[in-house]
Amino acid sequence: MTLIIAVDGPAASGKGTIAARLAQTYGLPHLDTGLLYRAVGYAAAQHNPPFDEGYATMFAERSIPETLDNPGYRTGEAGEAASRVAAMPGVRSGLLKFQKDFAAKPGGAVLDGRDIGTVIAPDALAKLFVTASPEVRARRRWLQVRGQGSDIAFEDMLADIKRRDERDAGRGSAPMVQADDAVLLDTTDMGIEAAFDAARRIVEAARAKHGL
Ligand code: C5P
Repeated sequence: MTLIIAVDGPAASGKGTIAARLAQTYGLPHLDTGLLYRAVGYAAAQHNPPFDEGYATMFAERSIPETLDNPGYRTGEAGEAASRVAAMPGVRSGLLKFQKDFAAKPGGAVLDGRDIGTVIAPDALAKLFVTASPEVRARRRWLQVRGQGSDIAFEDMLADIKRRDERDAGRGSAPMVQADDAVLLDTTDMGIEAAFDAARRIVEAARAKHGL
């Protein structure tokens, strides 16, 4: 049995930071699956006509970039574009193999996203569903983007977060939902250190349970 860690949850819940630190702690490769959807959304937004399902599906099937560290993928617009293409069944199935192959790496892996514990790695040894109240998540994201020079109003950020939650949880294809066997980690009242400690304890408990 290998150590596959699935970290799911909504935007700005802390799941990305937690997943990256778990990967570092256990010496595992990490895939931020949101970046795959962001890459597709980014391309689909620039294509004419924008958000064409056929084009987005083809891009998802054939054009996953070698490097996902394009700063353009990290913007709020790319997140919004990602959530639009993520509702397209062809895009989801086009990205499936890449993610499943990553999860099947012989030494184990950490993946974070929305459907890791339910669809991509349903047999993961440790599953976390990381969340926080919409207000706290919007505040974290707002402070972050303001630090980068954006002047977006807090209310607009909160509305963005809520709209993305609704779209991600409400779509027909692989909606964002906590897996039955995932452990809920609510980071509303936690700083990142406390959240990471809690996450590590969840993984340690799962390892002990499976004798790994
Ligand atoms: O996590 P991040 O904010 O980068 O994800 C961007 C968008 O990609 C999400 O709002 C969601 O719509 C989509 N996504 C998804 N399934 C995943 C990861 C991301 O649908 N496993």
